[in-house]
Parts: sequence; structure tokens; C-alpha cells
Amino acid sequence: MVATLLSIFAAFSRAEVKMSGNDEVSFIMVKPDGVQRGLVGEIIKRFENRGFQLVGCKMMSPSKEHLEKHYEDLKAKPFFPGLIKYMSSGPVVAMAWKGKQVVKTGRAMLGATNPLDSNPGTIRGDFCIDVGRNICHGSDSVESGKREVNLWFGEGNTEKYSLVSESMIYE
Ligand code: RTP
Ligand code: MG
Repeated sequence: MVATLLSIFAAFSRAEVKMSGNDEVSFIMVKPDGVQRGLVGEIIKRFENRGFQLVGCKMMSPSKEHLEKHYEDLKAKPFFPGLIKYMSSGPVVAMAWKGKQVVKTGRAMLGATNPLDSNPGTIRGDFCIDVGRNICHGSDSVESGKREVNLWFGEGNTEKYSLVSESMIYE
């Protein structure tokens, strides 16, 4: 019985992966402290090296209103005003990355929200200490990925191109 349930679950998971394909997008942003600390290249390098495809990238100074929209689910949190102040303290690098399970993998590459809980080898685990200075943002679900990429780049405004290395990255 348990084995049957497990095999149904495994088949469903495989179908999910197949359905989502390689077109999943995640919004990854180097925060103002990451920019100031010269970590833009390091963060881009990690996503490139992994095989993900950069489909949008721009440096910008987002307005408070824009940041409040981006973090709207955290509006009621006590740290929200401090978060908006930190995020609007300087330019950020906003990026859209595409690829198979890029949202989940991107979160794993970032590490835990609190850098002190992040494993060495992750972006936060290697480069920062305080939760309010955690250098990089990553979408937390496939839906958030779509919503955030649309919010920061505008719907349909990311680049559409094929990577020549695609057949070396995906089987
Ligand atoms: P992000 O959205 O920036 O990728 O971070 P996250 O998903 O790991 O964490 P989230 O809960 O979405 O929080 C957004 C950002 O708010 C700051 N924060 N401060 N003082 C606190 O307890 C606290 N909790 C969260 C962090 O900068 C976090 O990345
Ligand atoms: Mg978040």
C-alpha cells in the first residue's frame, strides 16, 4: 500500500517537473548591500555556472512604492519599515533567471533568510551575517517568480533566446 502510494507520488512529481519544463523563471536581486560590497559578479557567476539562463538584468534604484509592492506579503511584519528603508538605500541589480526548477534551486543557492542559519557554500552562508543585510533576494515560489519578474521587468519584457549550450545542460 505504502509502495503504491509512493509510486503514484513519484509519477506525479515527474509529471510536475515535465509540465513546468525549462521555462520556469525566478526573480533574483542583488540588494543594496550586495552591490556596495562588490558581489554582483559573484552572484551572477553562481547562477551562470549552474547552467541557468539570464533573461533580464538591470541596475536600478526602486521607489519605496515599488518595493512595498514587491514585499506586499510582509506588510504587517514589524521589520517591514526597516526592510523598505534598507532596500531603498542604494541601487539594486534586478535579474530574471530561467531554467528547470530555478525557483527551488535558486532558494537553495541563496541559503536561509537568516545568514547565520545558512550553510557555507550558499550565497548568504558565504558572504553575510545579519538577516537585515542578506545581500540577495530570490523568489519563494513559481507563482512569486512570475509575479516578481512581471513587476520588475513588465509582462513579456524578458529576453527570448536559446542558449547554444542547452543540449549540454539538459538531457
Ligand atoms: P527575500 O524575499 O529577500 O529573498 O528573503 P526571504 O524570502 O528569505 O525572506 P522573507 O521572509 O521574504 O523576508 C524578506 C526580507 O526581510 C528581511 N527580514 N528581516 N528582522 C527579521 O526578522 C527579518 N525577517 C526577514 C530580510 O532581509 C529578508 O530577506
Ligand atoms: Mg521572500
